[in-house]
Amino acid sequence: MQRDKIQLMDKSTSLTYWERYYNEHRDPTHCSPFASFVLPFLKEGKKIVELGCGNGRDSIFFAKENINVLAVDQCKEELDYLNSKFEAVNHLKFMDGDMTNLPPIPDVQYLYSRFTIHAIDQEAEKRLIEWSAENLNKNGLFFIEVRSVKDELCGKGEALGNNAYFTDHYRRFIVQAELEQSLTKSGFDILYSLESNGLAVYKTEDPVVIRLIAQKK
Ligand SMILES: C[S@@+](CC[C@H](N)C(=O)[O-])C[C@H]1O[C@@H](n2cnc3c(N)ncnc32)[C@H](O)[C@@H]1O
Repeated sequence: MQRDKIQLMDKSTSLTYWERYYNEHRDPTHCSPFASFVLPFLKEGKKIVELGCGNGRDSIFFAKENINVLAVDQCKEELDYLNSKFEAVNHLKFMDGDMTNLPPIPDVQYLYSRFTIHAIDQEAEKRLIEWSAENLNKNGLFFIEVRSVKDELCGKGEALGNNAYFTDHYRRFIVQAELEQSLTKSGFDILYSLESNGLAVYKTEDPVVIRLIAQKK
């Protein structure tokens, strides 16, 4: 593979950045506001797959509410740590791997992606949505929260094309209508879609995000 292409791939996965980040933020804190928003839609005993769980804060929150959780991330060392630390929590498993190249997973009622679709490039998003359409149960729900092109960080850093920018890591900002269209084309109905700030406030940051719930037909 060409050197440029390898460098671009490393930029778009930002694996080194995330490994370092979770090395320094090993333990989960409280769940995200998005997880609290999603919880009332979930039924106990059903399976949710979290795509890009980081240090597992939302997955642990769901598992403690008796939802059956499989949490995927690329940061193997962090997931090994979480699997041993939270061994006693029922219905919870962390699995390392590329969330855009997953094997088939049976009986998935819910998919959950918070701040991860903007962490992957367009090709990877396409694979992820195709896999989601194939693996989510009929009437299953896909919950997404992602940075919008209207976020003030969009445009900062090195431009990589397709609304992607590299600062200390990769972010590809999302156009609401395009995400809705990709999901619709793959066999989802859009049940809810909101683009706003005030939803994912963190310390001094208040990004413009898209919150979306899609249902598999
Ligand atoms: C912004 S963090 C969000 C973490 C978590 N969802 C949260 O809200 O706290 C993005 C996460 O996506 C993960 N990620 C990015 N690309 C990935 C891929 N292709 N496969 C698996 N995980 C990936 C990163 O390792 C990182 O943990």
